[in-house]
Amino acid sequence: MAEKIFEIVDAAGSKYEYRPGLEDVIAAPTTICYIDGNKGILLYRGVPIEEMAAHATFEETAFFLLFDHLPSRKELADFDAKLKAHRELPGAVIKLLQSFPPLANPMDLLRTAVSALGLLDDDPENDSVEKNTARAMQLIAAFPAILGVIQRQRKGLQPVKPHMEGSHAAHVLQQISGEAADEYAAKVLDVCLVLHADHSFNASAFTARVCISSLTDMYSAITAAVGSLKGPLHGGANTEVMTSLLEIGSLEKVEPWVMERLKNKGKVMGFGHRVYKTYDPRARLLSQYSEKLAQKTGNMKWYLMSREMERVMEREVASRGIYPNVDFFSASVYYYLGIEPELFTPIFAVSRISGWTAHVLEQSRNNRLYRPDAVYQGPMNVKYVPIENR
Ligand code: CMC
Repeated sequence: MAEKIFEIVDAAGSKYEYRPGLEDVIAAPTTICYIDGNKGILLYRGVPIEEMAAHATFEETAFFLLFDHLPSRKELADFDAKLKAHRELPGAVIKLLQSFPPLANPMDLLRTAVSALGLLDDDPENDSVEKNTARAMQLIAAFPAILGVIQRQRKGLQPVKPHMEGSHAAHVLQQISGEAADEYAAKVLDVCLVLHADHSFNASAFTARVCISSLTDMYSAITAAVGSLKGPLHGGANTEVMTSLLEIGSLEKVEPWVMERLKNKGKVMGFGHRVYKTYDPRARLLSQYSEKLAQKTGNMKWYLMSREMERVMEREVASRGIYPNVDFFSASVYYYLGIEPELFTPIFAVSRISGWTAHVLEQSRNNRLYRPDAVYQGPMNVKYVPIENR
């Protein structure tokens, strides 16, 4: 995709460079995440994503993002114990979620639950690093139970008590289904959570940073980030990918569907990225899990349809730097895991809350209010007309 840089003129005749969507604009230094979009490289605090996916758990990844070093065994055990201690949601939040229409958008419910947790904070005026770090852990711990309430409500069921043993990923699955998680499913979801944990200055992380830069509170920043992730150009794309696959319905219909969409200048969800001009390394890893799950479940359909979509898109648009992104294969992976498409974006949030909170802490350590400029192109010196004369 070619860079979009324009010269624009303001109402006074001055010229400015304009990059829609702040493309390539440096907003701040960071040590959380590195991306080389041309080579398809992603590092979490310097460690390649492939190594993180192969060796780290989500808990280790979240610790790494928050505390800037890989945890020792003791640190990891303490961190894990703190997450487990906050697995249960306050009753007031459960009640609040249950007061909304059961089929309300899960991201809207998640956003509201985060905001409600802020109202129950035991020391709301305390914005110290220590307190915000504790809040980060509590929020990471709370997201699976929030999803559990949301999903079970969709099915007309009551939330279930969290198991206190088992990984964070197993806990997510248990909260959604109400049953102890299958070991392999929990392993796959754990890798998904590692892969989605952070991605530099993406729209939702930037939203969180902009929000906290006014010295507001952690919950406001995360509430805003959830709202940003919901959109189909960002985290909402994983649901859209599955909606497309379900709508297409069969392998032989993939090519005509994609061609029709491209002919009409429509977007094929799960492809393209502002930063990657080559294959997203996370998509490569997720494609392997989609294949494994297809084989394990004896249902190759969604994997093969995804591969077919990828083949057609490669032929048609790879020359323009449009490749599968993280949302493309995560869709079939989640579907194979028995997760409903409406829950895909909240599952993304279960992981990304670790990156968001790391960004909030980093921004707070070296803060300056975000306040970009705009080029005014409206009329100047317009005479005010009293209301009775309009
Ligand atoms: N299908 C078809 N054409 C595309 C696609 C796509 N998925 N993505 C970009 N293009 C075309 C687009 O139509 C435009 O063409 P033209 O120059 O002729 O108008 C050109 O490529 C540039 O697109 P853009 O939207 O200006 O580029 P961007 O840098 O803003 O794009 C993007 C990034 C992610 C918004 C875009 O690729 C897109 O909308 N993809 C589909 C939604 C999606 O999968 N989002 C998930 C993003 S990655 C993970 C995450 O953040 O959650």
